[in-house]
Amino acid sequence: MVEVKNILVLGAGLMGSGIGQVALQAGYNVTMVDVDDKFVNSGVAKIEEGLKKLEAKGTLGEGVTASALLAKCNKSTNLASAVKNADIVIEAVVEKMDVKQKVCKTTMDNGPKHVIFASNTSTMSITEIGKDSGAPDRVCGMHFFNPVPLMRCIEVIKGANTSEETFETAMKIAEKLPCLRGQRLIAPVLKDKPGFIVNRLNAPAQIYLNWIFDQAKEKGIAWERIDADAGGKMPMGPCTLADYVGLDTMIHVAGYYKETLSPDFEPAKVVKELVAVGNLGAKTGKGFYDWSKGRDAISEKVKNAQPAGLFNLENTMAIMLNEGCRILEEGVASGFKIIDDANMAGMNTPGPFSGGKNNYEKWSKMLNELADATGKNYFRPCELMKSGGFTKMRK
Ligand code: NAI
Repeated sequence: MVEVKNILVLGAGLMGSGIGQVALQAGYNVTMVDVDDKFVNSGVAKIEEGLKKLEAKGTLGEGVTASALLAKCNKSTNLASAVKNADIVIEAVVEKMDVKQKVCKTTMDNGPKHVIFASNTSTMSITEIGKDSGAPDRVCGMHFFNPVPLMRCIEVIKGANTSEETFETAMKIAEKLPCLRGQRLIAPVLKDKPGFIVNRLNAPAQIYLNWIFDQAKEKGIAWERIDADAGGKMPMGPCTLADYVGLDTMIHVAGYYKETLSPDFEPAKVVKELVAVGNLGAKTGKGFYDWSKGRDAISEKVKNAQPAGLFNLENTMAIMLNEGCRILEEGVASGFKIIDDANMAGMNTPGPFSGGKNNYEKWSKMLNELADATGKNYFRPCELMKSGGFTKMRK
């Protein structure tokens, strides 16, 4: 197995700076690379800020100082030369296939014979990124969650051509990266499928929400009444959450799953209409709600609203269980425990299996009713869910 000492983090933005920070904390030599000095410097400044905060809290470890760690951090704007002494490149550049393929090939053309290229992509095929690099066996995925120092989950993804050695090396590195909220949860993703584990598990609830948004609009039901349906059981009701995430982002993500999983991911008409007039949610001050008076004013409205009786949280658990079972059927994860654990570590919410073990018959029935009511066949329960076969697939 490759002995890793030097990690090159490519792309010094939001994710790259978080990855660089935890790699330094783990004791690796880190080189931060971006296209321009100003991006590299701003990424390193964020790392410095993060490390100094930890030092002040006394959580860097016995005798470890921020400045000693920063002394192991190099900067570069030239991947081809910086990669010469890298053992692994962890890539967090823009989410564009041609850019990722290009930097992957530059890595393989110029790096040492053992160098590994690990992509932090959320939505792209690892196999596709590596296919023309000249060494697809040394390409894998390492998918982090934002903010990297805080979120425990890292998904390590096997592309169709990833070698066992590459995969094992990436797993080992991931396990060494510290996390402020306790032990890391490293989820092995055994097949290169859209959304990997955590994002995939949570994706199809969007089909349900989009249907509800259009139903509410059609029936003239106020948004706060939909949020009131969640009855405080979610940190934010579905409309507030959609505004918070950004309605444009929701459309973008839905478009991806529409292409890769099912046409049923078509976004709601009302969401498309809001985006068309520039109401993208909290970031533009307007979406489902008017955000000019802050989130508290919205919460107050929700608190005083009468529930609409349209959104049922149990349906979303049933939808998640079905998707979790598809993940198992397709061999993306080896067992349901890792799926539930990864969801908790990546989203801070419980996965569907512990509830699903006792409810799969009822939930399968609910999903068939939902498919009938919405015309969305993607909700129909898969074989592994209906039969309860998943209950024997813990590990
Ligand atoms: P960002 O926009 O903050 O950072 C991207 C950085 O890459 C920028 O500094 C940019 O200058 C640099 N860059 C662009 N082309 C480059 C090239 N050819 N060589 C070197 N650097 C280049 O983006 P962010 O949010 O950090 O995302 C990076 C990647 O991580 C994307 O693939 C994204 O899908 C993925 N990701 C993002 C998450 C998030 O919550 N933001 C979560 C998980 C994955």
